[in-house]
Amino acid sequence: EAPITVRSLSEGMGRPANSILQVLFKAGRMATMNDSLTEEEALEIALELGVELEIKSGRDLEAELEELLEIDEDEAGLALRPPVVTILGHVDHGKTTMVDRLRSGNTAAGEAGGITQHIAAYQVMHNGKAVTFVDTPGHAAFGEMRARGANVTDLVILVVAADDGVMPQTEEAISHAKAAEVPMIVALNKIDLPGVDEQKTLQGLAQQNVLPAEWGGDVEVVRTSGETGQGLDELLETIQLTAELNEYKANPDRDAVGTCLEAFRNEGRGPVSWFIVQNGTLKVGDVVLCGSAYGKVRAMYDDRDNPIKKAGPSMPVKVSGLDEVPAAGAHFFVLKSLEDARELAEQRKFAGRSEELASMNQRPQTFDEIMA
Ligand code: GTP
Ligand code: MG
Repeated sequence: EAPITVRSLSEGMGRPANSILQVLFKAGRMATMNDSLTEEEALEIALELGVELEIKSGRDLEAELEELLEIDEDEAGLALRPPVVTILGHVDHGKTTMVDRLRSGNTAAGEAGGITQHIAAYQVMHNGKAVTFVDTPGHAAFGEMRARGANVTDLVILVVAADDGVMPQTEEAISHAKAAEVPMIVALNKIDLPGVDEQKTLQGLAQQNVLPAEWGGDVEVVRTSGETGQGLDELLETIQLTAELNEYKANPDRDAVGTCLEAFRNEGRGPVSWFIVQNGTLKVGDVVLCGSAYGKVRAMYDDRDNPIKKAGPSMPVKVSGLDEVPAAGAHFFVLKSLEDARELAEQRKFAGRSEELASMNQRPQTFDEIMA
């Protein structure tokens, strides 16, 4: 593949070479006709000059990535993987308390105002088998995050507090689960409270076309209390039974792909991404692309912040080593080549900036601004 030069870019865009040299000059670079340019530089220049430029590379890396997301049912090496269970429900109906109880931790007590702000994922062992739980914020403003959480989800636990019944966000959660076309199990929660009207809550569910199995429908309802632990074993059994019926599979022996649930900047560790591995096994040292972030996995931590070396299918894991904080909801991919990862990341950063500029509906002012 011939390198892009000032000359070839000028010919390709049908613009005088001088205008290109000027753009470069403004950016502090003295260039000549035969100087070569990176793809990113060429694209930046085109953007500056208001020319739409498509660089034909020999390979379509984005298309190659899309294929990695597919799990081929006939693929050799497929093995059962733990179910990924997302907990949805109205605010304060007891989602976090339930996950806490399941993992005998104390997450809810450490939350600001007891309101979950971020998606978080944990793994719980039951009968020697793992179940992955994704806890979501119950607040209405986080509906979009819930929708995201449902993307990696095999199964939804709909938490409904028996004393409160079906509430607006319960209804939202039901539509999320239906849109995701995943099975749903109802946890009729806070069953420890005196004087709760179970039948009323079941009726509320039926009105939303969630028909309890005990009424001849197809949705299992388990009476639970995150407070006392009542019904949680039964809930885990029901989850594992559903998982067995559906045979969730993945291939642990390939490069990992998955989704970024949350990401943030950590004082000591830099950008930290909370990934859930959906296929393959993620290892320390792997080259990762996630949205427009990329890098080598420097360290990984499990849901209890223990350092780990690898993470298999359905495992939630915190990853450090990326160059920036990726967007929550972005897929991540392990690539063989750091060069490919960088190229894609830069293309994506560029595409993101162009989109931003386009949406601002104004021409960029200076090259520096585009480069910022
Ligand atoms: P958001 O994250 O804000 O949506 O709330 P959440 O659904 O995670 O609820 P959370 O677990 O924070 O619990 C809300 C309140 O209900 C807390 O005061 C809990 O102590 C209480 N609670 C949770 N589960 C139970 C339960 O099973 N029984 C009783 N009696 N109280 C519960
Ligand atoms: Mg919560």
